[in-house]
Amino acid sequence: MDTVVKRDIVILGSTGSIGRSTLEVVAKHRERFNVRALAAHSNIELLAQQCREFLPDVVCIVDKTRGAQLESNLKDLSIDVVAGEEGLVNLASLTGADLIINAVVGAAGLRASLAAVECGKCLALANKESLVAGGPLFPPLIQKSGATILPIDSEHSAIWQALGTGKKEELRKIIITASGGPFRDYPLEKFDDITPEQALKHPTWQMGRKITIDSATLANKGLEVIEAVALFQVPVEKIEVVIHPQSIVHSMVEFVDSSIIAQLSSPDMRLPITYALFWPQRVESEFGKLEMSRLNMLTFEPPDLNRFEALKTAFEIAATGGTAPAVFNAANEVAVSAFLDGQIRFTQIARIIKETVDKIKVVSTPTLDDILEADDLARKTATRIADSM
Ligand SMILES: NC(=O)c1ccc[n+]([C@@H]2O[C@H](COP(=O)([O-])OP(=O)(O)OC[C@H]3O[C@@H](n4cnc5c(N)ncnc54)[C@H](OP(=O)(O)O)[C@@H]3O)[C@@H](O)[C@H]2O)c1
Repeated sequence: MDTVVKRDIVILGSTGSIGRSTLEVVAKHRERFNVRALAAHSNIELLAQQCREFLPDVVCIVDKTRGAQLESNLKDLSIDVVAGEEGLVNLASLTGADLIINAVVGAAGLRASLAAVECGKCLALANKESLVAGGPLFPPLIQKSGATILPIDSEHSAIWQALGTGKKEELRKIIITASGGPFRDYPLEKFDDITPEQALKHPTWQMGRKITIDSATLANKGLEVIEAVALFQVPVEKIEVVIHPQSIVHSMVEFVDSSIIAQLSSPDMRLPITYALFWPQRVESEFGKLEMSRLNMLTFEPPDLNRFEALKTAFEIAATGGTAPAVFNAANEVAVSAFLDGQIRFTQIARIIKETVDKIKVVSTPTLDDILEADDLARKTATRIADSM
């Protein structure tokens, strides 16, 4: 009989949409995984529940004020409780863990991603913001440590799978699909009055709040363009975005012979999560299963960059590189949070991003300190702009 090798895994951001989906996949394949550690920001109720179900060795709550409460909730179990950002970073490099899933939202995940890569782990990455903000820092670390980054973002998972069918020098173009979000056809003159409630209703995906707003402004697609540049080490000129409202084709790769290779499924993040968790193997799974005979229409069209300025800015930023993507990302995080708090209008998100990137000088070959400094300055600048609106 074959012996099944269990993978020791760590899930950062386990209480979020991707984190919960990851645990669903793990629950279906318990014989294949040891959950060694879990981490979240402040949701101790769900985190404690997950600890009871998956019995990790260690759990981290980033919000230090909640550490004592979590410890008390788990006092009958032998689980180490750690608190604070350092705890998150330490879990990313946990001895004995071979797969780190980073499903934290925002640039808050950057240091953990770097720690995982620095010590040669396999990093299954949902936290696109860490690759956007810290893009230039990853290749030298990967070269030194032999780490692997496995994308969880459905588009990048599709590209990764499609790229495997040819050679890098045969690549003509990467075609990233976008659903277009809830406002693809919405009258432009009404954009100013879009409410957070409207923007939080995504037509095809159920996701966390920040990425749902990013999908409505198409800043998410912008982040994905920058992510693709960093992950696949291709120039931005080789990346195209197409609107595909059905969210069935998750992205495509065009080779020099004009063949286009695509990956298709029903929209379900548990499929790219499964692919990353089991890579390089494919396993029997029904997540995202598609009945091709029931598909009656797949459409593709170019994005309207006048309607979605954040995507236009992202293309410019991807070409600039250096600290510019960190600034783009931080300004977007501030603007999204101001929009969700009712402080600014929907259309002001893209404006804040643009004004912030225009104001901040770019360091072209940045260190981690340069990136953290750019992130901090961008947050302050974007906050000032939002406050003045
Ligand atoms: N959702 C999707 O379908 C999807 C698809 C593709 C890519 N992604 C990417 O995956 C990442 C996670 O997205 P999501 O939709 O799962 O987000 P989410 O539902 O908002 O969950 C975010 C997770 O990160 C934790 N967190 C928040 N702030 C943190 C901090 N400062 N330090 C450490 N942990 C923190 C949260 O903990 P608490 O619950 O305690 O606040 C939660 O566990 C994002 O980068 C997103 O762009 C998501």
